Amino acid sequence: MTASWQLWCDRRGRLSTLRVATLALLLLPLVKVIFQASEIAHGARPLNDLIHRAGFWALVFLGVTLAVTPFRRIFRYGNLVEIRRMLGVGTFCYIATHLALFFADQSYDLGKVVHEITHRVYLMVGATAWLGLAALAGTSTDGMVRRLGGLRWRRLHQAIYGITLLALIHYFQQTKADVTVPTFAASLFFWLIAYRLLAWWQNTSELSTLSLLGFSIALSGITFVGEAIGIAIAFHVSPLLVLKMIFDFDAGIRPGWQVLAAGLAVVAVQAAMTRWKNPTVRARAVAAE
Ligand code: HEM
Repeated sequence: MTASWQLWCDRRGRLSTLRVATLALLLLPLVKVIFQASEIAHGARPLNDLIHRAGFWALVFLGVTLAVTPFRRIFRYGNLVEIRRMLGVGTFCYIATHLALFFADQSYDLGKVVHEITHRVYLMVGATAWLGLAALAGTSTDGMVRRLGGLRWRRLHQAIYGITLLALIHYFQQTKADVTVPTFAASLFFWLIAYRLLAWWQNTSELSTLSLLGFSIALSGITFVGEAIGIAIAFHVSPLLVLKMIFDFDAGIRPGWQVLAAGLAVVAVQAAMTRWKNPTVRARAVAAE
């Protein structure tokens, strides 16, 4: 039996490389902050810098948590599910730090914090997502899974998709100028959710390489159009003019290309895994050795 604080051990109490790697990944942003401590301290607004870092990493780890389900199927690595809870709780730790730093930035004045949250839409959206994540983190223990029952627990945890949407809205709302990174992040999240929706619609646990290729290309197209419409509304220009610029690589690589590259990389892995796991191909490879 493994004690709950022995995060680096699997359920049988053995040291798990996968868990150690996940812990290292979760601690990486913290190590980066320690190394850049002097640079951050001498910046214009150190606390605000830390708020941004904690929020950004919370969103990244939320994405990594959501990637577990599709990736364990694509990489044919069922053990990935072992680290999902650790990633989810790790995400909440960063989001708790994000709020604690906001408290510190408001001089620990609870009245001021409540006033800010209730008077700024982006903070209200963030706070709603925060409460949702807290509810999911609080019900992620084995005891709570037993108490709620598998079906109710799964239904409750499906709220993660709504929470993700709120977190993305919060991210977009607080971004002042360039929305390239938020657009890329939103597309990656939609890729992860679209994978589940398509698998559910096709009544399968694993999408074919062709379906994966098709929806990765479609999502890239939606990203180009969505970004063009967003920029057109914000800057009162024609969306067609923005779309014409997608091949202007001197102005930067648009998020549509970035999400296409990420999608194609996953398609390549899936194709390789399908080929490798095909018994005939493997038998031929072994015979050739
Ligand atoms: C009570 C809850 C929350 C509060 C008070 C809050 C507050 C803030 C503040 C003050 C900023 C910086 C805005 C600026 O400098 O103009 C920010 C940015 C951000 N927040 Fe939150 N937030 C909350 C919840 C969340 C949640 C739940 C998430 C996502 C899981 C999140 C993700 C982010 C991200 C990604 C950024 C931008 C980071 C970057 O610049 O790269 N926040 N938040």
